[in-house]
Amino acid sequence: MLPDLHAPGPDEAEAARVLQVCNACRYCEGFCAVFPAMTRRLEFGRADVHFLASLCHNCGACLHACQYAPPHEFAINVPRTMARVRVRTYTDHAWPAALGRLYARNGLVLSVALAAGLALFLVLALLREGALWSARPAGDFYAVFPHGLMVGMFAPVFLFAVLALGIGVRRFWREAPPGRPGADAVREAAGDALRLKYLDGGHGDGCNEEDDAFTLARRRWHHFTFYGFMLCFAATSAGTLYHYGFGWTAPYGFASLPKLLGTAGGLSLLAGTAGLWRLNLRRDPMQGEPAQRGMDRGFIALLFLAALTGLLLMLARQTAALPLLLAIHLGVVMALFLTLPYGKFAHGVYRGAALLKWSIERRQPNRLGLGDD
Ligand code: HEM
Ligand code: SF4
Ligand code: SF4
Repeated sequence: MLPDLHAPGPDEAEAARVLQVCNACRYCEGFCAVFPAMTRRLEFGRADVHFLASLCHNCGACLHACQYAPPHEFAINVPRTMARVRVRTYTDHAWPAALGRLYARNGLVLSVALAAGLALFLVLALLREGALWSARPAGDFYAVFPHGLMVGMFAPVFLFAVLALGIGVRRFWREAPPGRPGADAVREAAGDALRLKYLDGGHGDGCNEEDDAFTLARRRWHHFTFYGFMLCFAATSAGTLYHYGFGWTAPYGFASLPKLLGTAGGLSLLAGTAGLWRLNLRRDPMQGEPAQRGMDRGFIALLFLAALTGLLLMLARQTAALPLLLAIHLGVVMALFLTLPYGKFAHGVYRGAALLKWSIERRQPNRLGLGDD
């Protein structure tokens, strides 16, 4: 059954107003997919606005180009308006609905405090057992936290995150189903997501950060972050296959597949999140919603800390600091997993779905007969 459809709120109403002005102006038509998708519509209901908001990649180009941006009385600010609607989208489609409110509360302090709290809990548990500081010559993680315990802790939280995000994005899809995707639409959307096509500003020079200069930095640092995360995920999957498929238990050698993938992924994630953090601090505040900075920075910080503690753990795995570092790393990763479904991570899922919606829609005839696509 479809979720309760909430009435358009002030954020959706403002987006509809802004899009009406843009639809008359159309100066930014070539910048990204939002504008050709906009020209296929004359009215902007709740589902249209949610779709277009997730299609917006917040590159900032249309803010810096706009002759109607503040201080003009029309006060057109597309990236900020879309950023506000995106959080509405995540909140309104969240499962369970009551937890949707967490999107607005998720912040840097909360994320880091959660990671610190969980790490402290595990450190104290080891301290009580007298196992916090002891040499493990073979780097034996499972002598500190047994394999079954780790799986029992992480698998349910991870599966819950997959379920919650899956239900949320299904609701988003069904709000305005675009039709069945063909193989070419899927291929195109995957390519657009994997290359972050719409962070190129429409001309290939990139997006705006602190001013109207174009830079590809956000796109590049995001690639380091995204592919680093994927490599870490692949490392965990390879480890799981080794364990359950082949009966090979950790620790694995430096030249093993899980280690190689994990090291490359950790380094890439570390560099990517450091780069994104720097850009985030400098970005023109007009390009986003200042109230959402905490959500963005909390996610960046947790990814960075997960990569950092993971790499430190690998370097110190032959020392007496292994139990302490393992407890800290597991605390950080648990905080990351717990916040996955109700924080910035949602953007990947909803943006992916919006790109696929657009790839399907642009293959259909334009019923208005207006615009390029
Ligand atoms: C379909 C997949 C994805 C797409 C299309 C996508 C797209 C984007 C875009 C356009 C931005 C910049 C605008 C904004 O801040 O919202 C962004 C930000 C970000 N993305 Fe992704 N993303 C995807 C997946 C991921 C994944 C899997 C991760 C890491 C686990 C990730 C990490 C981040 C981070 C940390 C930011 C914040 C950057 C900032 O605040 O400056 N993204 N993403
Ligand atoms: S953002 Fe401004 S310049 Fe661009 S289409 Fe909208 S109104 Fe026109
Ligand atoms: S901010 Fe960039 S991606 Fe978003 S609507 Fe404007 S031009 Fe498109």
